[in-house]
Amino acid sequence: MKHLAIVPGDGIGKEVIAAGMDVLDAVTEISTFDYDGELFDIGADRYLKTGELLTDEDIESLKKKDAIYFGAIGDPRVKPGIMEQGVLLKMRAVFDQYINLRPVTSWFPLVPLKREVPFDMHFLRENTEDFYMGAGGEFGPSNGDCKLKVKRELYTLDIDLNVDAEPKDDFAFEIGFLSRKGITRFADYAFKYAQARGEDKVTLVDKANVCTHVYGMQREIFQQKADEYGMKLEFMFVDAMAMAMIVRPETFGTIAVPNLFGDILTDLGAQLQGGLGMGGSGNINPHGVSMFEPIHGSAPDIAGQGKANPIAAVLAAQMLLTNQGYPEEGQMLHDAVRHVLDTGKTTPDLGGKLKTAEVGKAIAEYVLNQKR
Ligand code: NAI
Ligand code: MG
Repeated sequence: MKHLAIVPGDGIGKEVIAAGMDVLDAVTEISTFDYDGELFDIGADRYLKTGELLTDEDIESLKKKDAIYFGAIGDPRVKPGIMEQGVLLKMRAVFDQYINLRPVTSWFPLVPLKREVPFDMHFLRENTEDFYMGAGGEFGPSNGDCKLKVKRELYTLDIDLNVDAEPKDDFAFEIGFLSRKGITRFADYAFKYAQARGEDKVTLVDKANVCTHVYGMQREIFQQKADEYGMKLEFMFVDAMAMAMIVRPETFGTIAVPNLFGDILTDLGAQLQGGLGMGGSGNINPHGVSMFEPIHGSAPDIAGQGKANPIAAVLAAQMLLTNQGYPEEGQMLHDAVRHVLDTGKTTPDLGGKLKTAEVGKAIAEYVLNQKR
């Protein structure tokens, strides 16, 4: 019995998670997978009533779960950033979900490429380091000297600026940090993940020809891990990778990418596979509580109208099942999604006429029919 936290959140998050749960319930009917789901009332409605975002009490309860199934967060009644930072980013940080997993699969005919070659790229984006640590500042005549604050420790860095600039100018900077510990656990997960998929290679994306320090150390540690696992390591520069994703996506399997480049490449990937409504993601801590969610937001423009495509949420449920040790059941959801696409049982964004709940029911029905 798996103990799941169900966090629908705001807007269409509520609708797509309801559909996703219909599908998970169907899975329990036909397999050994079973779960109890505890519903968490985290989101804008509660925030507007009580001022609470993600509370200590929420965190204590969530800690006891095997995984979190998350909808989306964000509401037009609340200032942008409050819900996103106070709930989603906090959740990822509190549970140290250092891997962001984003599969990019060729969902024909939604793929906008001319060549119809199937692909299945699995992006693993490092989620805690690199240029997204908020480590930056300003200095110069207007600001004076700068002290750099990193997490809770205070470092003062002497920065030797190798630019041809007016010394009396104002500067702003943002620093990317990678730690040996952070890279090592990232690399370890990447090779394990590729191995579990039956692959013999990991592709590491970086810009080691320009950012030689951070990505040089990253290459060194990934190479050590490759040797340890007896697997191949392929290096790709991020600019070349952006092109390769368009011209030869079928040549990639497991792709490890640092935080900033991963943010960009995975959005390219989302469009490549057929748009926001088709993207699921996992925020993973291999030794803690992971969270699975569609990549789209709360879509206030269509919320409450039954127009939301639940497939991304179903694909997030697929990832949850696979992560929790039920890969065959996960694959069944993948096949079920293929089935509703092939039979046109889809929401208007994909050209269909069905409502969110109806698509969920169609997927659940396919699953129930797999009972042997
Ligand atoms: P969004 O992803 O919510 O919507 C973008 C566009 O795609 C909208 O036109 C929407 O109607 C459409 N769309 C999204 N998901 C869809 C689905 N399942 N089916 C059919 N159409 C779909 O992004 P937007 O509009 O930038 O943000 C809305 C709110 O969501 C904001 O508050 C934002 O901060 C938040 N957000 C939350 C995320 C999360 O919880 N992980 C991720 C992205 C945004
Ligand atoms: Mg992004």
